[in-house]
Amino acid sequence: MKRVGIVGGGQLARMLAMAGRRLGIRCEVLDPAERPCAASVARHLRGDFDDLQALDHLVEDCSVATFDFENVAVGPLAHLSQRMPVRPPPKALAVAQDRLEEKRFISELNIPVADFLAIDRREDLDAAVDRLGLPCLIKTRRFGYDGKGQWKLRERADCDAVWNALQGTPAIAEAWVPFKRELSLIVVRDARADHRLYPLTENHHVEGILCYSLAPAAADDALRLEAERLAFRLADALDYVGVLAIELFEMDGHLMVNEIAPRVHNSGHWTIEGAHCSQFENHLRAVTDLPLGDASARGYTLMLNVVGQWPQREALLACAGVNIHDYEKSAREGRKIGHLTVCADSVEELALRSRALLTAAGRPALWENLQPRIKALQGQR
Ligand SMILES: Nc1ncnc2c1ncn2[C@@H]1O[C@H](COP(=O)(O)OP(=O)(O)O)[C@@H](O)[C@H]1O
Ligand SMILES: [Mg+2]
Repeated sequence: MKRVGIVGGGQLARMLAMAGRRLGIRCEVLDPAERPCAASVARHLRGDFDDLQALDHLVEDCSVATFDFENVAVGPLAHLSQRMPVRPPPKALAVAQDRLEEKRFISELNIPVADFLAIDRREDLDAAVDRLGLPCLIKTRRFGYDGKGQWKLRERADCDAVWNALQGTPAIAEAWVPFKRELSLIVVRDARADHRLYPLTENHHVEGILCYSLAPAAADDALRLEAERLAFRLADALDYVGVLAIELFEMDGHLMVNEIAPRVHNSGHWTIEGAHCSQFENHLRAVTDLPLGDASARGYTLMLNVVGQWPQREALLACAGVNIHDYEKSAREGRKIGHLTVCADSVEELALRSRALLTAAGRPALWENLQPRIKALQGQR
């Protein structure tokens, strides 16, 4: 039986392991937590991500290694890659985990990104205000997620406070992008350079955390083609194997890349029920050299994240067509502890099911935000 080693044992590893079970692929997760949430469905090897002895165990037990989050140190993974295939390649991780490297890499491929500037000294903040204008965003180069490690500069007087908050951490400044909407694109590529592309997904964030995803997003052929081209260019340039997620801003009918994630992605959770082959299954297929699966959508899907605490289960389960994904994580403010999906064959049915789901999840006010997006889907297919 094939075994895949996963560095990291969070919900992404958990959903990979669950997809693996159906394919006859076992997963083993390396995680320092006593009981990471993937441990109920995968073998758990307890150890730090850069624990060389623990990594040796992965070499013994598994035929290929992958990772479920970005902040794994590249050094130990590169070391691991001398002894077993590590997919995606550590180079992709190195690029994605440093916002400055990431922006440089993407813009060198002639793919648009927000104008940016490295922030290493106090005076760089003034230079950023001069060049990028206000407002602009300051983000730490590394370790940010769910909007953490970011500050909005609204006026020049904010520079001191942001500089103090940074405490010398290397950062970048980014021009503020007045986007029309946020989209994401998930591509899977195998070692033979075969690709499959999931449909564009529309995402709504609240306070830097993904709130819901709607898939497929309303998009014309030109936008789809632009997305497809940039996804292939990025994946090819990284010699990528596995699932690559690309976060996008849409501006005046064109796309700009916000960031890339060298892994399965929250905005692709809808693919479990909503696509013929999920992002999790396709990642495993790619890294184990199995043929890639069909990435097309089955219909329309809404994915709603469960953040902080669970809404009442009975109300959720009473919703037609609801799928509950509980990561078995303890409740904590701002923490993603599960997600919910509803699928439908028609836009009208998706509207009904989504509205009922939002109400049951205690988020009825979100309907106002979602409704126009669902409406834009009408007449698309
Ligand atoms: N340059 C920008 N202009 C406007 N909004 C932005 C910009 N960068 C990020 N955001 C908003 O903040 C969210 C989180 O930022 P992101 O860079 O994706 O960091 P994270 O790693 O936390 O996901 C984005 O999804 C978007 O809503
Ligand atoms: Mg992001």
